Amino acid sequence: MLYPLIIEILSMPPDSRNVEIRGWVRTRREMKNLVFVEVNDGSSIDGIQCTFDRSADGEKTGALLAALTTGASVEIKGKLIPSPASGQAVEVAAAEIAIIGEAPAETYPLQKKRHSLEFLREIAHLRARTNTFGAVARVRSRLAFAVHEFFQRRFFQYVHTPIITASDAEGAGALFQVTTLDLEGLAKSGKAPDYSGDFFGKKSFLTVSGQLEAETYATALSRVYTFGPTFRAENSNTARHLAEFWMIEPEAAFFHLEDNMDLAEDFIKYLLETVLKDCAADLAFFDTRIEQGIIKTLQSVCESKFVRMTYTDAVKELEKAGSSLFEYKPFWGCDLQSEHEKFLTEKVAGGPVILTDYPGEIKAFYMKMNDDGKTVRAMDVLVPRLGEIIGGSEREENLDRLSARMRSLGMRPEDYSWYLDLRRYGTAPHSGFGMGFERLIQYVTGMANIRDVIPYPRAVGQAEF
Ligand code: 4AD
Ligand code: MG
Repeated sequence: MLYPLIIEILSMPPDSRNVEIRGWVRTRREMKNLVFVEVNDGSSIDGIQCTFDRSADGEKTGALLAALTTGASVEIKGKLIPSPASGQAVEVAAAEIAIIGEAPAETYPLQKKRHSLEFLREIAHLRARTNTFGAVARVRSRLAFAVHEFFQRRFFQYVHTPIITASDAEGAGALFQVTTLDLEGLAKSGKAPDYSGDFFGKKSFLTVSGQLEAETYATALSRVYTFGPTFRAENSNTARHLAEFWMIEPEAAFFHLEDNMDLAEDFIKYLLETVLKDCAADLAFFDTRIEQGIIKTLQSVCESKFVRMTYTDAVKELEKAGSSLFEYKPFWGCDLQSEHEKFLTEKVAGGPVILTDYPGEIKAFYMKMNDDGKTVRAMDVLVPRLGEIIGGSEREENLDRLSARMRSLGMRPEDYSWYLDLRRYGTAPHSGFGMGFERLIQYVTGMANIRDVIPYPRAVGQAEF
């Protein structure tokens, strides 16, 4: 039998039943003969107060109290009683306290005071013991499960696409190479590497996206999704880029761009509704400590219809606003900067926006060309504070057009013959998108830096732990 966690004990009736608390001390206070110990086990943001009366054996407990410091692990036995203190329904009248592992106050880095997020990033192996990172971890876990719930209920099959691949799914060149060649030996001998002798017999990389492989399964199982780590060697040191991040990529056959937008909008709303319902205590914490008003914002997003706008209209809005507002002057054909995305979501739409029909030049090779020959059936979902949270498109399902597009971008269609087979045999319209899981968590929690919503962030110059 699993022993009950604090989250379960907090909802039990205070009928003097015997309970055992196991966890880590957050705070300790003393008042005359009474000792108040707040214990947290990470099962919820709320800990439980254990009150110990030392009048019976003041001498004996004196030594124990000295070791009862923030961070120490304890086992406390006692009775669950109604709490006279405000803000908590129950507490434990402790009969026995055992210290399992001490955490000496002189060296333990987490003290009762508030630490900066920057400082906590340096001790990422301990930061999950704080309120903020405990809450982030619980919200992340619940959201991951909600992703599966959402798709499984709609008959999307979960496909495990490969982590190591020989193709650049985005054609953007931001790849981490994987090799077992003796690089130091090669450097000494001055020889060029021969990848035919490498582990896979050719140059290979960590995947930037599972999309291409997901497409192969979508044209067999109709609706699929991937959810796994992806890797990008982009040299962007920002609060919304990681070198290793988790991405959710649904792909559906016979879906056109409109279906894809509807799916994305329903998906986001489902995820927000889930955390509002199931992570209420953690969200209340984010609302008071991290981003004021976030609960109300998320609620209103659930109730609103996302604004949908073409890229062309969006650029008109930006031009109308005047270029003096922006560091980068907006013009048709430009890749939207985060200041532009911010303006469109916060000033024009006052909420999430779905932008469609971007110029082909700034989007990936696989997107379906519109009849105008200039724009593609792309869609990006932008949200306030963050900008892009989802990127997706309808895919080019015509073999000749796709091959021609690849050639015009300098890609070799022969290298993607398996991908082109989908267009050779039983081709069908299909669409999909990718959501950055960490961006979603940032959006939901209000955490400003993406490095604070993944346990061990990997970014330029950063691979600690
Ligand atoms: O827009 P992106 O590059 O699209 C794709 O990878 C497509 N293959 C998706 C698809 O259609 N199946 O990336 C999708 C999302 C972005 O909208 C963003 O949320 C996130 O992935 N993302 C990143 N998140 C963190 N760090 C990075 N470096 C990211 N790059 C993209
Ligand atoms: Mg994108």
